[in-house]
Amino acid sequence: MSKLSRRLFLGGSTALTVVGVSQLMTSCGNNNNNAPDNTSSSPATETTGEVNLYSSRHYNTDTELYEGFTQETGIKVNLVEGSADELIERIKSEGDNTQADILMTVDVARLWRAEEAGIFAPTSSAVLEERVPASLRNPEGLWFGFTKRARVIMYNPDKVNPEELSTYEDLADPKWKGRIIIRPSSNIYNQSLVASLIEAHGEEQTEEWVKGFVANFARPPQSNDTGQIKDVAAGAGDITLANTYYLARMAKDDDSAMQEVVEKVKIFFPNQDGRGAHVNISGAGVVKNAPNAENAVKFLEYLTTDTAQEFFAKGNNEYPVVEGVSVDPVLDSFGSFKADDTNIAAFGPNLAQAVQVMNRGGWQ
Ligand SMILES: [Fe+2]
Repeated sequence: MSKLSRRLFLGGSTALTVVGVSQLMTSCGNNNNNAPDNTSSSPATETTGEVNLYSSRHYNTDTELYEGFTQETGIKVNLVEGSADELIERIKSEGDNTQADILMTVDVARLWRAEEAGIFAPTSSAVLEERVPASLRNPEGLWFGFTKRARVIMYNPDKVNPEELSTYEDLADPKWKGRIIIRPSSNIYNQSLVASLIEAHGEEQTEEWVKGFVANFARPPQSNDTGQIKDVAAGAGDITLANTYYLARMAKDDDSAMQEVVEKVKIFFPNQDGRGAHVNISGAGVVKNAPNAENAVKFLEYLTTDTAQEFFAKGNNEYPVVEGVSVDPVLDSFGSFKADDTNIAAFGPNLAQAVQVMNRGGWQ
């Protein structure tokens, strides 16, 4: 057993799993007794031929993708799964001795937490800088976006004339009184969205916006994005804000009840005449004390190839970040849109303020 497997095997929290990617395909990857034998075929030392990926993303297609990387490069991917906060804590506590090469997670707010915890090392890569748009990566190379999701207006066309819709800002207008439903302010997607509004308008104006927005709620915030979409279809509210991939996922569900929901909910991309719709990412960065830093960069570069982009985005019905890579047909059916091209790294420092503004504005 290699040092990595053994250490996780002996000292691992039960919430985390470490699995060789090849084993994920046969075992559900949820058993530490299946920790891989990392000493297998590679004749070289432990610091070549493998990369240790700590990830809070869990999709089967991701696993296939990692196998593709191994086939292409001979570098084995050891996957350690857990929630973002667990993984951040783990890497922090492992310090200089960490085996983590890459931390991958969703939402810039979580990448910001990791950044604040001092986990990432700056990476300079011509490939990453060319392939990942500047607005979707940290300016110092601490992390890079690999898929993109948009948080947009979803509405019931029986209740809303799309001509009434325009911007996020407009949702504070009294014409929407009693018509908006949304999940709680504790949700990280909402926090990142409000952080983007602070970036665009400042704290004071955003607080005013939150107050007006909250005054238009049809009910106290509850549930998740999928719940809001279902409830818009059921008439609990006329509009909500949700991430595009949730509606795409529902659209691909064969269940007839789900199909009925999807027929009753339409997408509107806000702020198309201005800065564009709010987007966020799945992203990853190289860990400061990565034992296989070179392989880590190779892996991140591989994620920007056309094939990997298509595959990785498909895993969660997201948009590729690389220009020109084909978009999933269901997402395509939502239409093309202008995305806010403010560097999303700017939202991180606004997050604490965003939470305060939401609290003061009465967003439960
Ligand atoms: Fe999500």
